[in-house]
Amino acid sequence: MHRRRLVVALAVVALFAGLWGGPKATAWAQQEGDVVQEPSLRELAAPTGLRIGFASANDFWALPDAATYQRLAAREFDILTPENQMKWDSLRPAPDRFDFEAAERHVAFAAAHGMQVHGHTLVWHNQLPAWLTTTRWTHDALEGVLEEHIRRVVGHFRGRVAVWDVVNEALDEDGRLRESFWYVNLGPSYIEKAFTWAREADPDAILIYNDYNIEVVNAKSDALYEMMVDFKRRGVPVDGIGFQMHVTHQGLDYGSLRRNLQRFADLGLSLYITEMDVRIPGEPDMERLLQQAEVYRRVLQIALQQPRVAAVQFWGFTDRYSWVPQSFPGQGAALVFDRAYRAKPAYYALKEVLSAFVAAFKPYKDLQVVQRSPERYEVRARVHNTGAAPEVRDVALRIDGQVVASQRVDLLPREERPVAFEHTFDRRGTYWVTVGDLPAVEVTVPGRLGLLQPSVWLDFEDGVGNRSTSGIVARPSGAVRIGETGRIGQGIEFDREGRLELDDPLHRHSGGHEMLTLPTRGGFTLALWFKPDFPEGAAGPFALLDASRNPIYFAVSITRQGLSWYYEDGTDADFQMDVPAPLDDGQWHHLAVTGAFGQPGVMAVYLDGELRAARDVVASPAGPLSPLVIGHDADPTYFPAHVGFVGSFDEVRVFPWILTADEIREVMASHAYASQAGTHVTEWVSLEPGETLRSLTVHASVGAAERVEATVETSLDGQSVSERTTLTVGDGEATHPLALGPARCFRIRTVLDGFSAAVLEYEAASSSGRRWLWSTTEDWARGSWSSNVDLGAPWPVEPAETSTAAGPL
Ligand code: XIL
Repeated sequence: MHRRRLVVALAVVALFAGLWGGPKATAWAQQEGDVVQEPSLRELAAPTGLRIGFASANDFWALPDAATYQRLAAREFDILTPENQMKWDSLRPAPDRFDFEAAERHVAFAAAHGMQVHGHTLVWHNQLPAWLTTTRWTHDALEGVLEEHIRRVVGHFRGRVAVWDVVNEALDEDGRLRESFWYVNLGPSYIEKAFTWAREADPDAILIYNDYNIEVVNAKSDALYEMMVDFKRRGVPVDGIGFQMHVTHQGLDYGSLRRNLQRFADLGLSLYITEMDVRIPGEPDMERLLQQAEVYRRVLQIALQQPRVAAVQFWGFTDRYSWVPQSFPGQGAALVFDRAYRAKPAYYALKEVLSAFVAAFKPYKDLQVVQRSPERYEVRARVHNTGAAPEVRDVALRIDGQVVASQRVDLLPREERPVAFEHTFDRRGTYWVTVGDLPAVEVTVPGRLGLLQPSVWLDFEDGVGNRSTSGIVARPSGAVRIGETGRIGQGIEFDREGRLELDDPLHRHSGGHEMLTLPTRGGFTLALWFKPDFPEGAAGPFALLDASRNPIYFAVSITRQGLSWYYEDGTDADFQMDVPAPLDDGQWHHLAVTGAFGQPGVMAVYLDGELRAARDVVASPAGPLSPLVIGHDADPTYFPAHVGFVGSFDEVRVFPWILTADEIREVMASHAYASQAGTHVTEWVSLEPGETLRSLTVHASVGAAERVEATVETSLDGQSVSERTTLTVGDGEATHPLALGPARCFRIRTVLDGFSAAVLEYEAASSSGRRWLWSTTEDWARGSWSSNVDLGAPWPVEPAETSTAAGPL
């Protein structure tokens, strides 16, 4: 009773407001102002590219509350669907007469307020004029009428109606084509023909199929999905799906909605929520209104999260003008403003979702750096279009501020996509890694990466080989001999006249291009193993490295008491370092020196991995250096006191940067193994009578900068058999087909030479199909090396029975 009185009182205020002019209009404004705060729905949604829409009531310009209606509509929405006045019975009063007058007013209102128009609808079984449905049509005649209708209507609004519901509600609940007026008279082809005619009439309009009860995955949406797959395959011009979304306050299965939208999105279709309302049975109390708000909230949220959803449109906006009470007797209050245009909880829920979504807008998110191997990293992030228009973005991977890679990504409005980069670091170190504008992540790259890319890497296995890819040529002259005495088995031996001249390793010209192996700007490191063989009676100094020619003087020399390293630049500043250190005959030593030209650097001397002296330098070269000579003076007349080095060298490396102390120790460790070569022996494995060993695979993985020489040898019944495998360089695998006669047992012996860390894997198979696997990890660099490693019992892979026996027979 009390409530009814209140409703009446409000109606009276409304009536006064409508009748009286100015001052009373304020009463309305105040009432709305109380409940609706800026920004509006469309303003909040604008940055997301999602349009918010409403169905415009019949002749809304003539409503008693037209001003209010229009003010709210214009403020809140940016896409408009005429609720009825583009249907056949409005546009087509007679077979030969089109009446666009009312429809035009909807379009004009939309245009005046920056809204798109969503035309509704070209082919539907309802609201057809009687002249159409009461005539007995031939197939062709009716098809002609439909074609003419679509061409006339779409053509009339060409460029002004952005989206057309071309076909409405053509499916029944179990997914068959509805036995509608159109289907009965035209058969199933009317659907695709309608799209084709519409496309021709306005190639720019978005053409959609619209229906109800297709929001979630069910028989009807499955059928529609199949229809769309077929249409897409056959090129029927359909652009999107309209999901009407006439639901109740109990909502729907949101997970299913999400999946359903996704599958249509995956077909490349645009998606529209076209006619949303959320009806409530009986009198809407606050609890129901809150439930209703939740339904609006969830649907909008899912729509925002699906970038292919182009608009969320409500079937009206005020409960005063809603189709629900007539069509669903006993239910109502389905829209977001009540009958007095007051915002309901649903309206605020929509605003909340929009604000929260926009507040979370970030162009880049979720940076992750994942290590794939010591040097190889995967850098992942998510990119997000935070603009209202489709975007083509060049996404950059930055390391220490430098762009090292980029990817072009196409993004729909609101779309979020993962990006991934692979990056292989060529040096160990600490780096700042980022994608886009994200705060960089610090990455420390372990491993022997400093060893990977010297510009000169000389070894002496079969002569003077340069294992770097710089193309530098080392020319031996004088008495030079490749000996058996190197750190890796073979080194190079000099007498006093021996020298190894590197073709301009510091500054090389090739084909008009400067090819720098050691930049005349930037840091460098020279590293080598040497074993002096001091000649009787000569005091030295003996030239180890030399590039001395005016104006630059560059030399490392040794005496029995120590070594000197000095260079000079074009400014006549010289940089000199003397390191006292007893250097005995016949002892291998590792030497590394660092320096820099043209930028600040550290002039340092490392002997046997220990930093022995260092100073900061800034040397400016006046020109290219002379060729680097190993073991002799470049120009003996310049410093006659120098004499040629007598002794051996091995593993000469020139790096175009300054290595860290750790890296220098890695360089050193990576060839300190020669005298430490190890042997792995598997246990003896028994074979069955008549069983033979069929194949043997040995896989050796070593540090990327290393090589390993492994000799693999198989013993049968205590006898070494002739098959031997030699693995060399890096990451090697050798497989042997073996046909080694019957035996009682076998074992595998591997001699490794030349690694600081390695993983060995053996796989053996026998004639009766048995397989054995062994693996072992060796890390000399970390001191866990021991020779004759007992690999323990192997585990047969198949069949499951174990078969090991102890000891040689
Ligand atoms: C409804 C209108 O809202 C009513 O005013 C009219 O009386 C009947 O049609 N699906 C549709 C819409 O595609 O065209 C319908 O609109 C609601 C259901």
